[in-house]
Amino acid sequence: MRKRIVAGNWKMNKTYEEALTLVSEIDNMVKDEVNGDVTVIVAPPFPFLQSVGKLTQGNDRMHLAAQNVSEHESGAYTGEVSAAMLKSVGVQYVIIGHSERRMYHHEDAQSLYKKLKTAIAQGITPIFCCGEPLEERDADRHFDYVDKQLHDSLSYLSNEEFDNVVVAYEPIWAIGTGRTASSQQAQEMHAYIREQLSRMFDAEAAFKCSILYGGSCNPGNAKELFSQPDVDGGLIGGASLKSRDFTDIIKSF
Ligand code: PGA
Repeated sequence: MRKRIVAGNWKMNKTYEEALTLVSEIDNMVKDEVNGDVTVIVAPPFPFLQSVGKLTQGNDRMHLAAQNVSEHESGAYTGEVSAAMLKSVGVQYVIIGHSERRMYHHEDAQSLYKKLKTAIAQGITPIFCCGEPLEERDADRHFDYVDKQLHDSLSYLSNEEFDNVVVAYEPIWAIGTGRTASSQQAQEMHAYIREQLSRMFDAEAAFKCSILYGGSCNPGNAKELFSQPDVDGGLIGGASLKSRDFTDIIKSF
C-alpha cells in the first residue's frame, strides 16, 4: 500500500500569528475529524517552520515541510538555508523543483539534482515537482516534457536514494488558475510517471512511490482526483490556506 499524502504549500503567505492560527486549526481538525492513515504535511515559509513544527509535535499524522532548500551544504551562500539547518528544526519533507522556483528563480535540472541529494543525505524526504506549461500540453508534448524533467534530475539517484522521494505532478496551467486537470488527465500522467520511474529505478520502488497531484485542487474536486489508482494524494496551494478547505481535502480520501 502506498503512502497517501496531502501536503499544504503555503507559499509566501501568512504572518507569524496567522501561521500559528492556521496550523492550530488544522491540527485540531485533523485530530477530531480525520480517520485513517493519511500523512498530512504543512509547508510554511522558512521563519515559521520551528514554531509550526512545535505546535504539531504531539500529532503523529502531521508533518513539517520546507518549500525550498539550498543545493549547498554550508558556507558563504547569503540568504540560503541548508538541509542540515532544516533537519535541526524538525523538517521532514522539502518541496523541490516547484514550477514557481524553476520559473522565477531559474532553478535548473542540475541544481534540483543537487538539492535532492543534499535533502536525502540529511534524511529529509523530497517532494519533487514536475509538470508542463500550457503550450506543451496544447502541442501534445506533455508526456515528453515531464519525462525530461524526471530524467534530468531524478535518474542520477541510486535506487536507495530514490526510495525516499515523493513526486508531485503539477501542470503549470492548473496552478492557481482554478482550472484543474481532469481526473482522467491526472491519472494518465501519473501512470506515465510511474512507468518512467520503473525504467529508471527498480519496479518495486516505482510502485511504492507516492505521486501527488497539484493544481487548483479543492474540496469539490479532490475526491474524484484521489479516487484514481495512481493519484496518491495532493499538493495543495490556495486551498491549504483555509483550515476548513484543507481538512475537507484530507477527508476526501
Ligand atoms: P494551487 O497551487 O493549489 O493554488 O493551484 C498548487 C501548488 O502550486 O502547489
